[in-house]
Amino acid sequence: MTHPDNCSPKRILIDTDPGIDDAAAILLALASPEIHLEGLSIVHGNCSVQQGVINALSILELAQAPSVPVVQGCELPLVQPALLAPETHGERGLGYAELPAPSLQPLPQPACDFLIERTLGAPAEITIVAIGPLTNLALALRKEPLFASAVKEIIVMGGAIRHEGNTTPLAEFNTYVDPHAAYILFHSGIPITLVPLDVTYQCILTEAHLQRIEQVPSPISVFLRQATRFYMEFHDEYQAIEGCVINDPLALALAFRPDFCKYEELYVDVDISGGVCLGKTFADFYRMSGKAANMRVALQVQAEAFLDLFVERIIALSQKILAQEVKRMR
Ligand code: BDR
Ligand code: CA
Repeated sequence: MTHPDNCSPKRILIDTDPGIDDAAAILLALASPEIHLEGLSIVHGNCSVQQGVINALSILELAQAPSVPVVQGCELPLVQPALLAPETHGERGLGYAELPAPSLQPLPQPACDFLIERTLGAPAEITIVAIGPLTNLALALRKEPLFASAVKEIIVMGGAIRHEGNTTPLAEFNTYVDPHAAYILFHSGIPITLVPLDVTYQCILTEAHLQRIEQVPSPISVFLRQATRFYMEFHDEYQAIEGCVINDPLALALAFRPDFCKYEELYVDVDISGGVCLGKTFADFYRMSGKAANMRVALQVQAEAFLDLFVERIIALSQKILAQEVKRMR
């Protein structure tokens, strides 16, 4: 399996269920000059898809990035019943943060059509960073046979390879919520980088990181404090973790800093048999199946280097927004 590894600037579409760490990933994308953010396609997951659209638009307004298109995607998983995560992300998906209702509107196009149109319009140029359940992508794959060959690469935050699950004892949230969609994507032939809990659970945003971010007080730092306070309470109560795991920003960062992780090319599948393993991702480390690798899997991470980059980029975004506000007031 070949894996594309070009230089910047990278054209990125984010498929997301915003979500506290999704919001942090979107902000990181907007703060990173290596990335051109081509759009946000929204999927059910941490909150309803309708709420996710509102959250995405509010985050773009907060970051003064009104030109990034947002499209609404699937409301439900392909086969499974819906499973939202209010205990992890709050009733509206952004913890204690209360952003003003957005004045921006989503495009009227369904997410899977948008994904198809944008990728077929720029074959082998667009990287998709998928940080929610994979329903929109599965639908695009089923609807347009040319979609798979048009996508340059997909970076998927999902799965737990040697790590315990965060939604069942075995399964990670994104692959558990729509395991059938993950199955379709994993067998699509698209070059995939999987970013499982094995690496994301080493990336814990702490009070000290937040205090660094708050040294430049801005609407962004206020938002991150309010959103992550809820997320930190969840991690403390359910997982005895001090701080909060920022899964999705790591997947985004790997689009332009792949060196933050070490990878193995592996055959990986996801359980859809409906028992206790539903949504569990498993890798054939010893090549017992004889099947060719279908993805590269991040299994080691330089967590502090990534967290430093995250903090620095968010500070730079805060400074940029403050400067724009000063300019507007003149
Ligand atoms: C994933 O599930 C969601 O709660 C997060 O946003 C992340 O995408 C982690 O399992
Ligand atoms: Ca997510």
